[in-house]
Amino acid sequence: MTGAGVEDPRIVELRQMRHTARQGGGPDRIARQHNQGKLFVRERLELLLDPGTFHELEPFITHQGGDLGLTTEKYLGEGVVTGYGQIDGRTVYVYAQDFTVLGGTLSEMHSRKICRVMDLAVRNGTPIIGLIDSGGARIQEGVKALGGYAEIFRRNAQYSGVIPQISVMLGPCAGGAAYSPALTDLIIMVEKQSYMFITGPAVIKAVTGEEIEPDALGGADVHMSISGTAHLSAASEEEALQLCRRVLGRFPSNNVENPPYVPPTDDPLRMDEDLNTLVPLDPTIPYRMHDVIERVVDRGEFIELQPRWACNAIVGLARIGGHSVGVVAQEPSVMAGVIDLDASDKIARFVRMCDCFNLPLVTFVDSPGFLPGIDQEHRGIIRHGAKVLYAYSEATVPKISIITRKAYGGAYVVMSSKFLGTDVNYAWPSAEIAVMGAEGAVNILYRKQIAAAEDPEAERMRLIEEYRRRFNNPYHAASAGYVDDIIEPRETRPKIIAALAALRDKQTSGPPRKHGNIPM
Ligand code: HXC
Repeated sequence: MTGAGVEDPRIVELRQMRHTARQGGGPDRIARQHNQGKLFVRERLELLLDPGTFHELEPFITHQGGDLGLTTEKYLGEGVVTGYGQIDGRTVYVYAQDFTVLGGTLSEMHSRKICRVMDLAVRNGTPIIGLIDSGGARIQEGVKALGGYAEIFRRNAQYSGVIPQISVMLGPCAGGAAYSPALTDLIIMVEKQSYMFITGPAVIKAVTGEEIEPDALGGADVHMSISGTAHLSAASEEEALQLCRRVLGRFPSNNVENPPYVPPTDDPLRMDEDLNTLVPLDPTIPYRMHDVIERVVDRGEFIELQPRWACNAIVGLARIGGHSVGVVAQEPSVMAGVIDLDASDKIARFVRMCDCFNLPLVTFVDSPGFLPGIDQEHRGIIRHGAKVLYAYSEATVPKISIITRKAYGGAYVVMSSKFLGTDVNYAWPSAEIAVMGAEGAVNILYRKQIAAAEDPEAERMRLIEEYRRRFNNPYHAASAGYVDDIIEPRETRPKIIAALAALRDKQTSGPPRKHGNIPM
C-alpha cells in the first residue's frame, strides 16, 4: 500500500508485466502446445529443477526488429526462458525455448539471452542445460539470427570440457540449430516428439520432391540407433527431464571439481559368485558383458549411453563404491565385440568426456580386434581406431582395465592397455592375450608344416591346441608384466574399489602444448 493506503500502481504494473511474460505466446498457443502432447516451457522447468529454486533472468527482453525489413509481434522474453535453479541442491543455469512464441525461433535477442546464461554458467563453474523446442533461425531476422547461432556455437566449443553442457530435445531442432546440441556433452531426446535435422522435410521436398516424415528423417529412433548423435531417449518429456537430473548427478559441476560422492548402500567388499561361472569355457560361446557390468557396479545401476548404436561397444556412467566412474567395454554377444568405425567413435568421445570431468575410467576388454575387410578399411578404420588410441593415451584420470576374455592384437593395445598409461590392469583367468586368435596365427605361422603333414587337418588342429595352451591364458602376459595381476572374476568389484581409492590423488603432467591434433 502507498502512504494513502492505495496499492502502488507501479507494482501493479510489474505484476501484470510478469503475468504477461509468463504466458509466452498466450493461452491459445499454450493450448495448442498441450494438444500436441507437449508441455509448456514453464511446466518443463518445474519438472527439471528442485521445487521453488528457479530464478528467471531477462524476462522483459523483446526483439529489436528484424534484419529483412520484416518484423514480428513483440513478446516479452523473446521465446526463451533463461535463469538459474538447482538440481539436487546444486546450481545449474538453464535456457528453455518456448515454442508458443514464434515457434521458439532464434533471433538476435533470443541468442543474447542464451549466451548470457552460458557466460554466467562458465564464470560460476556450473552446468548449463538447454531445453530445445525451436523452428531454428527466425527467418525475419536474417543474418542477425545466423550470427546469433554462431555466438552460441562459439561458446559451446570454448566452454566444452569446462562445464557439463546437456541438451534435452523436446520438440523440433531444425537447420544449423542442431549443431549447438551436437557440440554439447550429452543429448537426450523424447521419442516421437523431438526431431533433429540439418535439412528439414519441407526443403527436401522442394529440392527433390521426396516426402519424408520428420520422425523418419531425424527422430529419436534415428539418432539413437542409426546416426549415433543422441545419447539417451525417453518415452515422455517427464522421463527425459528426470533422466537429465539423474545424469547430472554423476557429473561434477565443472572441470576442477570431483564428481559427487554418494556413500554406497552396496557393500564395497561384495563379491559376486556368479561372475566366476559367467565366461563359458568354449571361447566361441558368447556371454553378455552387460551382466558383468551390472554385477560389479553399485546396486547394478548403469546409465548406458548410446545403448542402441554401435552395440558391440558399451559406454556409460555408474557408481562404484559411491564414486562416479565412466565404464567402457565390448559386448562379446554383439559382433563378437569387434571394434569397428562406430565403436571407435563411441569409445573415443566417451573417454574424452570422462577425462574432461574427472570421471575415472573402468574398461572391460573382450574383443577379437578391429573388424577386418574392405568396407572398414576404405571408410577409414585407421583414422577412427586412432581416435581410441589418442583418447586413452591423453586421458589423465585414473584408468583401470580388466581383460575378461579376448584381447587380441589391436584390441589389446587400444583398450586401455598398460603402456597407454593405464594405472591398474587386471585379467581374469579366462583372458586370452595374443597378437591374434589361434586359428589365424597357426595358419600364418605353420602354413608349410601343415601342408607337408600326412594329415594336414589333424596337424592344424594339433597346432591350434598347442597355441591355445601356450598363449590363450593371461600368464604369458603377466610373466612379462603386461597385466598387474590375475584375479578371480568375483573379486572384480572390491579390486576396482581398492584401485580407485589408491588412485584418488593421481597427478600427471605432459609436455606443454596449445592442444593436440586428434585424428577426427
Ligand atoms: C520464422 C517460424 C520458423 C522460422 C516456424 N515458424 N519456423 N517463423 N522462422 N524458422 C513459425 C511458424 O510460421 C508458426 O507461426 C509458428 O512458428 C509455429 O510453427 P508451425 O509451423 O505452425 O508449427 P508446426 O506445425 O509444429 O511445425 C514446426 C516446424 C515447422 C517443423 C519447426 O515450423 C518448420 O519446418 N519450420 C522451419 C524449420 C526450418 O527449416 N528451420 C531452419 C531455419 S534455417 P504462426 O504465426 O503461423 O503460428 C536455420 C539455419 C541456422 O536454422 C544456421 C546456423 C548455422
